[in-house]
Amino acid sequence: MSAGLVSVAYVVASILFILSLGGLSHQESARRGNIYGVVGIIIAVVATVAAVGVNDMVTIVIAMLLGASVGIPVANKVQMTQMPQLVALLHSFVGLAAVLVGFSGYIEPLKATTGTEHTIHLVEVFLGIFIGAVTFTGSLVAAGKLDGRIDAKALTLPGRHLMNLVAIIASVLLGAWFLGTDSLAIGLTALVIMTLIAAVLGVHLIMAIGGADMPVVVSMLNSYSGWAAASIGFMLGNDLLIVVGALVGSSGAILSYIMCKAMNRSFVSVILGGFGQTSSSSAAAEGDQTVHETTADELSEELLNANSVVIVPGYGMAVAQAQNSVSEITKLLREKGVTVRFGIHPVAGRLPGHMNVLLAEAHVPYDIVLEMDEINEDLPGTDVVLVIGANDTVNPAAAEDPASPIAGMPVLEVWKARQVVVLKRGMATGYAGVENPLFFKDNTYMLFGDARESVDKILGALRAS
Ligand code: TAP
Repeated sequence: MSAGLVSVAYVVASILFILSLGGLSHQESARRGNIYGVVGIIIAVVATVAAVGVNDMVTIVIAMLLGASVGIPVANKVQMTQMPQLVALLHSFVGLAAVLVGFSGYIEPLKATTGTEHTIHLVEVFLGIFIGAVTFTGSLVAAGKLDGRIDAKALTLPGRHLMNLVAIIASVLLGAWFLGTDSLAIGLTALVIMTLIAAVLGVHLIMAIGGADMPVVVSMLNSYSGWAAASIGFMLGNDLLIVVGALVGSSGAILSYIMCKAMNRSFVSVILGGFGQTSSSSAAAEGDQTVHETTADELSEELLNANSVVIVPGYGMAVAQAQNSVSEITKLLREKGVTVRFGIHPVAGRLPGHMNVLLAEAHVPYDIVLEMDEINEDLPGTDVVLVIGANDTVNPAAAEDPASPIAGMPVLEVWKARQVVVLKRGMATGYAGVENPLFFKDNTYMLFGDARESVDKILGALRAS
């Protein structure tokens, strides 16, 4: 393929990626956005492969087949609830690729450079490897934490900020050493030492972030992986990779900012870590309080007598795969004249938009699915709130207990409704590991059991009445 055609293909792919991001920002256009993205990536891959010589093409196709033989089974097997750890793992590959491309670009540059151009190339290599190594190990730790293989608690070593600062200063000094040498051996030594420091920094940065802040971390690593991809683009002189990397990097950063706002955290404090630690401080205070239980039959009567019902789904609904039955209940109640709406917290579930995707798949109409800010002011006038497998996102401690690890995080103020019914299996805490005083309030009733089974029982009772 001629260079001109490749450039045209790259421009078309870039436009499709931008359209894709635009489409993904609204539920109604998300499907279209996905299609733009898929078409864009197919054009990009075909143009890139077609641009290289036949010998290289064989190697590339073998590599793609190998990758696909691992990727396809993993993607088929992974549960929706395991997506964040898979995404984190994929980010780590981008980081590793940046490190490998950086080393090969230094040992065997694509083209000979001199003077300022050579210095720019070396800076690209150094920065690319640094960002790549931090992204690689940081993403692996994030995947481990999200998968429960590594303790989700924040690791707050004494003097940790100083350690990070020393690591960054050491990397800058190594960078100066690297730029100042003409010897390949010395340059490689500087690069290897910096890679090790960056790898440890990546582990330390993410280990210091507690469970409650993990959603922000995942989108932050998404942003890092974008910058790592852009750095690969600079090293390889590939314009499309630079554009795509910048798109991923900046959209990840914007998403992180939005999530920080949703959790009332400053972006800097999340990056520096130490927040979102698990605590059992409120557990003792709530230990001897009374819990009221209800049954599916009682609840179905309450629902039928209600004028307005708000359903708040959370991670437990996703695990139990209860969304289709929830959708059925919604349909049935609406047919009987009850106003039913959904309240979605920005970090409900385990990845951004998790609940919206599940509800859309279960054919819940978009116009009754409201964001936290939209539904919160209506909650005091609501008859029944059904909390299905949600916990942290409805925790009043965030609003009322300044000592809580999630203090200040905006939550769905479900306790302000006339009655709240919480569907969960037991009294376990949510992802942030924080006790929830909601369960002990006078207007709260617990319906214990697997969310799917409970929802099916409610559906059965509603149909029978
Ligand atoms: P969580 O606070 O994690 O609570 C989920 C609740 O579901 C648990 O308390 C659990 O209690 C219950 N549950 C689990 N399996 C169930 C089942 N089969 N049937 C019924 N209940 C079940 O969920 P949330 O309110 O959605 O909050 C999300 C949390 O995840 C936040 O802390 C958020 O920061 C974090 N997080 C979010 C993201 C994103 S971006 N959304 C990413 C990573 C982490 P039982 O065990 O007693 O049943």
